[in-house]
Amino acid sequence: MAFNRKDSYYKQAKREGKRSRAIYKIEEIDQRFRVFKKGQKILELGAAPGGWMEYIAQRVGPSGMVLGLDLLPIAKLKSPPCLTLIADILAPDTGARIDDLVSPPFAGIVSDLAPNLTGIKATDQANSIAILESALQLGLERLNQGGFFIGKVFQGSELKPFKNRLQALFAKTTLAKPKASRKTSTEIYLVATGYAGNTRLQ
Ligand SMILES: C[S@@+](CC[C@H](N)C(=O)[O-])C[C@H]1O[C@@H](n2cnc3c(N)ncnc32)[C@H](O)[C@@H]1O
Repeated sequence: MAFNRKDSYYKQAKREGKRSRAIYKIEEIDQRFRVFKKGQKILELGAAPGGWMEYIAQRVGPSGMVLGLDLLPIAKLKSPPCLTLIADILAPDTGARIDDLVSPPFAGIVSDLAPNLTGIKATDQANSIAILESALQLGLERLNQGGFFIGKVFQGSELKPFKNRLQALFAKTTLAKPKASRKTSTEIYLVATGYAGNTRLQ
């Protein structure tokens, strides 16, 4: 199947003045799992150019806040409580830099992190699991008991063990492939809700 960069979601995003077509993925996940609520503090890892942040900010409202982290700068967001941080999730000081900006815990950690693609499926999948593993490490130390984790991953043999790991930490873990996620892409989202808790934060 030919890859159509300018598909209907791309055109919808342009028409509606959104930063990226990715916004429709988190919207669909939220409509299905009802994760975002007013007043929540949310951490997004891999947040540029800020499509998800725009959606999440509107869902958590002025009493909530969203911190978006990326290697790339994110143009200033108008919505009430959006903060951004240029950082590498693999860098050892990133956790401390997050805590300096916003004190944990967060109600939810979301990751749309994507490694640079090599085109070699097994390598891309291994890299996506490795980056998601780092996101989970960083996130779990800052996640409220009962909180949620949403993470993008490329499908492959390492997905099941990773899902099992989440199942041991969260009350419920589900795989979701939003309609806005291209059919030609192996990306899928893990949605884990009801975090059992972290002794560091309790
Ligand atoms: C698919 S994009 C995110 C799109 C975003 N959710 C949106 O709605 O606009 C993936 C992002 O992951 C970021 N990324 C990849 N590796 C990273 C790392 N090691 N640390 C921080 N960000 C990283 C990339 O720079 C890229 O902006």
